[in-house]
Amino acid sequence: MNLSMRAIVLLMAIGVVSSQVISPSHTYNVTAPEPNAPYVAGQVLPVRYTLVDDIKLPNLLSLSIYFTTIDPSMNFTDTVITSNADISQGFSFRRTQNTMVYYEHELSYAIPNTTRAGSYQVIFVDSVSRTNTSVPIVVRPYAPPTLPSSTAAGNANKAGPSSIFAIHANSSSRKQPELFALVALILLLCAFL
Ligand SMILES: *[C@@H]1O[C@H](CO)[C@@H](O)[C@H](O)[C@H]1NC(C)=O
Ligand SMILES: *[C@@H]1O[C@H](CO)[C@@H](O)[C@H](O)[C@H]1NC(C)=O
Ligand SMILES: *[C@@H]1O[C@H](CO)[C@@H](O)[C@H](O)[C@H]1NC(C)=O
Ligand SMILES: *[C@@H]1O[C@H](CO)[C@@H](O)[C@H](O)[C@H]1NC(C)=O
Ligand SMILES: *[C@@H]1O[C@H](CO)[C@@H](O)[C@H](O)[C@H]1NC(C)=O
Repeated sequence: MNLSMRAIVLLMAIGVVSSQVISPSHTYNVTAPEPNAPYVAGQVLPVRYTLVDDIKLPNLLSLSIYFTTIDPSMNFTDTVITSNADISQGFSFRRTQNTMVYYEHELSYAIPNTTRAGSYQVIFVDSVSRTNTSVPIVVRPYAPPTLPSSTAAGNANKAGPSSIFAIHANSSSRKQPELFALVALILLLCAFL
């Protein structure tokens, strides 16, 4: 591999590690939900975003977040996750990566158990820059909690696949970045040997 090939591989690896969506205004990035990741009706949808380290941020950004769909067959009315997302730059939200400082906020949206399975979007609307950032997601059908009874085995079978999938989605989305970082490291080491 020549040097530019190595650079490309490394950049691709970094791109996958930080599967974040960058806002058009470059004032914030969306780090959760992950684009096209599956979530389950009746369960929690994590919403996480990072903010630039800029004291003038309140003049640059005013965020509301919606849960919506572009599929009209869904017959779904937009839901407001928050009409005034927290953009404070307090110490407890402060994060550092190498020398870069940013701020991170997280909130949880409980996907209503009545939500039909299908394609949805989490839309970040910035009323200052008048730009949107959309993250497409997939919602899997609601799986009722199984009751501990003698018929639990039968019920567990029905609820099984979705709930296993939900847990899998959660843990895989957490673990994947580490896995890709490891792959990137191995590729890098190979390139130098
Ligand atoms: C958003 O992501 C880009 C690319 O990874 C990075 O350069 C920028 O610093 C990030 N901004 C925030 C606020 O996290
Ligand atoms: C759409 O939803 C509304 C209210 O929930 C309902 O009254 C209407 O019948 C639904 N239409 C279709 C085509 O499902
Ligand atoms: C769905 O959620 C509502 C309120 O959150 C609750 O009252 C209802 O029992 C739930 N339905 C099922 C089938 O779990
Ligand atoms: C941003 O999203 C909102 C809510 O869905 C919509 O009303 C608005 O037209 C969108 N703006 C742009 C610039 O796409
Ligand atoms: C999913 O991840 C969140 C935090 O990222 C954690 O609080 C929650 O318990 C996890 N759920 C499952 C089903 O693993």
